[in-house]
Amino acid sequence: MSGGQDVVIPSAEEMNAMSREDLARLGARLDGVELVEYGERYEPGSPADKRAERSVARWFLLAAVSAVAFVVVFIAWPWQYETAYSDKQWVYALYNPLIGLLLGLTIFALGIGVIAMAKKIAPHEVAIQQRHVGMSDEVDRRTMVAELADTGIKMGLKRRGVLKGSLALAGAGLGVAAVVPVLGGFIKNPWDKGDKSDLWVTPWAPLADGSLVRMAYQDGTLVRPEDLAAGSMTTVFPAVPGGAKASDAAVMLFRLRANDPIKFRAPKYETFRYGDFYAYSKICTHVGCPVSLYEQQTGRVLCPCHQSQFDINDGAKPVFGPAARALPQLPLGVDKDGHFVAMSDFIEPVGPGFWENSGKHE
Ligand code: FES
Repeated sequence: MSGGQDVVIPSAEEMNAMSREDLARLGARLDGVELVEYGERYEPGSPADKRAERSVARWFLLAAVSAVAFVVVFIAWPWQYETAYSDKQWVYALYNPLIGLLLGLTIFALGIGVIAMAKKIAPHEVAIQQRHVGMSDEVDRRTMVAELADTGIKMGLKRRGVLKGSLALAGAGLGVAAVVPVLGGFIKNPWDKGDKSDLWVTPWAPLADGSLVRMAYQDGTLVRPEDLAAGSMTTVFPAVPGGAKASDAAVMLFRLRANDPIKFRAPKYETFRYGDFYAYSKICTHVGCPVSLYEQQTGRVLCPCHQSQFDINDGAKPVFGPAARALPQLPLGVDKDGHFVAMSDFIEPVGPGFWENSGKHE
């Protein structure tokens, strides 16, 4: 890409005899570049030079520290899913924001460090370059390498131990931060509690002391059979702290009419009802919208997102739309005080089925 029209191109032997700086200047001339000003930005070793180095190194060190913090948080922070009714839910909720923030800070600080290095450490240069076209020949390639090397020398990278070290740390930190999420899959297993793994359990599971979870309206009022008229539906939640906020807990409680033609998906589901009362998950098995609209005449509930319909008179099987799985049914009972309770947790996954299911909970 030689652009200098009146520059004599030296032979290979002549180039071998030239210094690095001469080659760099020759390269500039061949590219039609006139270096008006070119040289170190500050006197090497001067206070201004050291100040510039420290200010750049600070960014790289910040990148390195945040990369290390990212790795520590990624591995050590309580990452296991905590339901909304758990005391530790807020700690779990911080996990994703924290790793995102720290990885973002690493990249940001490294980027700012590189920009600061170009502004404060790279040689001061004022150049005029002519536009040119064509292929690179040998002299261009060699002079380009010399220019880059010369830039490195003039930046004083060899003697700037702090800068080199901090840049290496930041680069290494970013590299580790990029690799850790891949390796993390070998460390973290969301199914390590077997059947008690968080994704298998909802707030309807009996409490640690074995007591059954009561049903409540959103305001916390407990639900009794006499609350519902025949042919009505209401939305209920587990009466545990945070139960109304848990994403997998909302349930539709139906009181069907005594003469409704009821079918059960399988004989075992017949024991899940309490008289004319039936409870089904409100979370659509398509992609998880709340199923809302109950049409008493047809016994169907409609999901507003993609119009899936489920037949409550037939085990909440899907009868229209994209949902392919029946709404999970919650076993119902009434405690000694006359309040509705869940006799156990759901026995099948709530919401869209997930790939590990393999029919295990069907
Ligand atoms: S989420 Fe219910 S139909 Fe799509």
